[in-house]
Amino acid sequence: MQANSRPVSSNQQHLHPKLAEVVCRHLRTTHRAELSAHNIQAYERLSLEMKARPRPLVLDSFCGTGHSTAALAERHPGHLIVGVDKSAQRLAKHPHSPHDNYLLLQADCEDIWTLLAGDGLLPDYHYMLYPNPWPKAAHLQRRIHGHPSFPLLLTLGGTLELRSNWQIYVEEFGCAMHLAGHHGRVLRLTDTGPNLSLFEQKYRNSGHDLWSYTASVMP
Ligand SMILES: C[S@@+](CC[C@H](N)C(=O)[O-])C[C@H]1O[C@@H](n2cnc3c(N)ncnc32)[C@H](O)[C@@H]1O
Repeated sequence: MQANSRPVSSNQQHLHPKLAEVVCRHLRTTHRAELSAHNIQAYERLSLEMKARPRPLVLDSFCGTGHSTAALAERHPGHLIVGVDKSAQRLAKHPHSPHDNYLLLQADCEDIWTLLAGDGLLPDYHYMLYPNPWPKAAHLQRRIHGHPSFPLLLTLGGTLELRSNWQIYVEEFGCAMHLAGHHGRVLRLTDTGPNLSLFEQKYRNSGHDLWSYTASVMP
């Protein structure tokens, strides 16, 4: 993967001035969107797998090519790891892996979160690695913490880890979590171990600082 990625550039240099207003509005309401048939169909694979071999879950939301999903399968051998990404093109680039304790679903995360929460299938760990930053200030509501589905994410609980190469994104996520009553930590990643995902590799090779937010969330 190339090593010439430019750092995130934005017309927003600090936390978004409307962050608290938007997050609190979403926290007061329940996100209800009609589920898409293709997401229900994708979820069916997970549901059948869990009925056949019930195991604790790890969720890798926005998994892209699923390199991270396979790496997490090695890290969590007793779990079923579920990578979710809406892009068939990205998922088609998934390399062969010797691990058989993971599934990749082509679906929208928000619908999969709704279905998991409805069935009480709650992940022990929930990774969100390098989601699209949506750096324009006008796009706050497209960021995970600015989206109406943010409260849904909280109902899933688990040990959450969000990573980004945009410090403001991670700090905003941390503030949104704080507004929801969850306390976590924002850190600059100093770990020089193996890259967890392709975007992590690209950003590291390009010399970007990488940031993470972690918290334990009781559903
Ligand atoms: C910047 S890439 C990061 C991919 C991967 N996590 C990594 O670190 O290499 C963001 C991914 O989020 C996916 N995505 C964006 N919105 C999504 C949604 N609502 N549901 C599922 N996937 C989504 C995109 O298709 C894309 O693959």
